[in-house]
Amino acid sequence: MTTEAAIRVQGIEKSFKDLHVLRGVDFDVARGSIFALLGSNGAGKTTLVRILSTLLKADAGTASVQGFDVAANPGDVRESISLTGQFAAVDEVLSGRENLVLVARLRHLKDPGAIADDLLARFSLTDAGGRKAATYSGGMRRRLDIAMSLIGNPPTIFLDEPTTGLDPQARIEVWQTVKKLADNGTTVLLTTQYLDEAEQLADRIAILHKGTIIQNGTLAELKQLLPPATVEYVEKQPSLEDVFLALVGDTGDEDDGETETVDVETSAADRTVRARKEPR
Ligand SMILES: Nc1ncnc2c1ncn2[C@@H]1O[C@H](COP(=O)(O)OP(=O)(O)OP(=O)(O)O)[C@@H](O)[C@H]1O
Ligand SMILES: [Mg+2]
Repeated sequence: MTTEAAIRVQGIEKSFKDLHVLRGVDFDVARGSIFALLGSNGAGKTTLVRILSTLLKADAGTASVQGFDVAANPGDVRESISLTGQFAAVDEVLSGRENLVLVARLRHLKDPGAIADDLLARFSLTDAGGRKAATYSGGMRRRLDIAMSLIGNPPTIFLDEPTTGLDPQARIEVWQTVKKLADNGTTVLLTTQYLDEAEQLADRIAILHKGTIIQNGTLAELKQLLPPATVEYVEKQPSLEDVFLALVGDTGDEDDGETETVDVETSAADRTVRARKEPR
């Protein structure tokens, strides 16, 4: 347990027959930070997460989690992590509460019922707690899945595409949960295809492309890779509301006597409306 980093990945390679998915992946994740792994479909994000969570063996390279080598000490690694996979792993036959109690029992924790009730409340699932998970919406299932992975307070958690398929409200709820975890010292490695998710959440962002990490930095560092922003003139297209207001006049405005348009100088919307009225 000498390393500063909670997760250390060095030269990891993995192929499936002649498909070379990971070709030497390197990065560190600092303790208590949120690290986002970005990559397109098939980039190898899930493969890497499976290696780090000891579900899959790498062909080459080393990786450690909380100071434990994933190949040499898989048992210790498993005790230090939780994994919320890309596809929700809830038992549909059980109720939400029963799913939570089951995991608490598997982790040999005292008072599984109280742990379950606490998590149901934290994830706004108290009312649905007694219902079979099969009847949950996608967002509820996802929240239950993440709640299950928090049982036992593992120091490192892996979230493989935690918000895919969630509505905007549910995504924000998951983001808040993840931020709170990191604030309390949990190390979070998440994979995502949503750039805004990485922007919102991550202390560091790494881009996995063609088998290697092609960029790794803070959001500010990644933004500096591009030339500075330029100012462009963009003509604003009017909304139907703009058109309506320009034609009938804003209720608060006094009439300035013009017959065709109202307050023509103030907005792009007005200009566009006037331009359309002018004969060609
Ligand atoms: N067990 C396996 N056997 C053969 N090929 C596999 C296996 N697991 C993954 N692959 C292949 O490895 C590549 C990387 O898959 P992986 O699931 O890691 O991608 P990903 O980045 O998680 O993609 P997504 O964003 O779609 O979840 C894909 O081409 C996939 O088909
Ligand atoms: Mg995946």
